[in-house]
Amino acid sequence: MLLTLRVHGSRLCLGITGQQRRRLLASSAAEEAKKLTTPQQPLQLEINGGTYATDSWTNVTPKILSHLGLNKHMQRDHPLSIMRQRIVNYFYGAYRNQRGNPLFSVYDQLNPVVTVQQNFDNLLIPSDHVSRQKSDCYYINREHLLRAHTTAHQVQLISGGLDNFLVVGEVYRRDEIDSTHYPVFHQADAVRLVTKDKLFERNPGLELFEETWSGSLADPTRILSSSKCMDQTKQPCHTLEAVKLMEHEMKHVLVGLTKELFGPRIKYRWVDTYFPFTQPSWELEIYFKDNWLEVLGCGIMRHEILQQAGVHQSIGYAFGVGLERLAMILFDIPDIRLFWSNDSGFLSQFSEQDLQNQPKYKAISHYPQCTNDLSFWLPPDVEVDAGFSPNDFYDLVRSVAGDVVEQIRLVDKFKHPKTGKSSVCFRIVYRHMERTMTQTEVNEMHKQIADASVESFNVQIR
Ligand code: DAH
Repeated sequence: MLLTLRVHGSRLCLGITGQQRRRLLASSAAEEAKKLTTPQQPLQLEINGGTYATDSWTNVTPKILSHLGLNKHMQRDHPLSIMRQRIVNYFYGAYRNQRGNPLFSVYDQLNPVVTVQQNFDNLLIPSDHVSRQKSDCYYINREHLLRAHTTAHQVQLISGGLDNFLVVGEVYRRDEIDSTHYPVFHQADAVRLVTKDKLFERNPGLELFEETWSGSLADPTRILSSSKCMDQTKQPCHTLEAVKLMEHEMKHVLVGLTKELFGPRIKYRWVDTYFPFTQPSWELEIYFKDNWLEVLGCGIMRHEILQQAGVHQSIGYAFGVGLERLAMILFDIPDIRLFWSNDSGFLSQFSEQDLQNQPKYKAISHYPQCTNDLSFWLPPDVEVDAGFSPNDFYDLVRSVAGDVVEQIRLVDKFKHPKTGKSSVCFRIVYRHMERTMTQTEVNEMHKQIADASVESFNVQIR
C-alpha cells in the first residue's frame, strides 16, 4: 500500500506493512513516519511539486532533501548571500546597455531538480564520464537528479532567448564531510553570448566562424579525444580572432571580479584545463596563505551547446564559481558546516549593510547557547532613544555578565495605549567559551542583570 508523507518539505510515498500502519496510526504519526523513511525505499518522491517514481538509481536521502528550499544564498546577512550580491553587483556594473541598465539577468531560485539531459547530455559530458556515477550524484531516479552544478541550466536559459545571465543556487554532490566538503554547496554560473557585430564592432571585416567550416557539427555528443579537448587553441569552427577577443574579454572581467572580491593586489594565475562544455578552458587560481587555490573554471562555450539551444550566430564564454570557497577565504571561515548553522553567534557576525567592508570571522565557542528574554517597563515619560539608550543597557549587561554574553538584541518595543508607558524586550544569548553553562547558572546571571537594570535605569521588570 501507499502512504504519502511530508518529510522536510518534500513528500515521500512509502510502501509500508499493515503492522507498521497500525503503529503509525496509534502513535504520533509524524514521528513514526520519520523513522520509517530511513530504512525503506519510498515508491515515489514528491519534491518541489513534482512526483518522481523511484528506481534502482534513487539514492537521495531525507537528510539531503531537507536542504531544498533553505536558500542560504538568499538569506539576509548570510555570508553566502553577501557573496551572491557582490558577484551580481560586479556583473551589473561591468556590463551595461546603451541606456545604462545592467545587461545580465539573474536566476537565483531555479528548481534544483534537473534531468540527466540538463545536467550532463546538454553539456556534452561523455556518457562514461566519472561525474555521472551514482556514487558522485544524488539521483532521484534514472532520469532525474539534484543538480551537481549550476551549469545544468545553461541550455534551458539560452533556448529561452537569454544571452547574458547568471545562475546562483545550491548544488548537490556526494562527497566526504570535512571542513571543506559538504554534500550541498553553492555555485554561481554565468554565460555571455556575443554576435559578430558586437565582438568586431571596431573590425567589421572579421568573422566568428572559419570559412571552411560547413556550419553543421556532425555529432554534438561525440567524445573528443583527449588531445583534441586539451587543444587550448580553439574549436575547429571558430576563427582565432574571435576566440582570442572573447578570451581577452572574459579574462579581463574575471580578473576584475577577483580583484573586486580579494583586493587589487591579489596574486593570480591562469591554468589550462579541460571541461567537456568549453574549449579552450581555464581555471583561475589565487595565491592565498602560501598556496595556489583554484577559485573558478571558465572557457569558450562549445558551439554544439549553442546550436542545440538554437543559437547559430554567436560565440560565448561561460564560467562557474563556488561560493563557499570564496566566502571561506574572504571571511576566514574555517569550517564549511558553519554555512548551515542557525547559530546567531555565527550569523550575527555578517551584515549586508556594507557589502565591501566585511570583518573576518571570529571563532564561536562550540558549547551550547542559552537564550533568555528580559522585558521591562521604562519609567514614565522615558522611551527608547528618548531617555533610555539600548547601548547603556548593553554596557550594563557586559559589566554584570562579562564575556558569557554572546549577543543581545532588542526584539520588541511597545507603548501602552492607556498608561503611555513604554516597554522593551531584549533577547540575551549566553554561551561560555570553555564549558557548558547550566540553566540555573544562566538564570542566576539573568536575575543579576534584571536587578542591576532596576537599580540603574529605574525600570520595572515585566
Ligand atoms: N560546472 C563546473 C564545475 O562545477 C564549473 C564550470 C566550469 C562552469 C566552466 C562553467 C564553465 O560554466 O564554463 O566544476
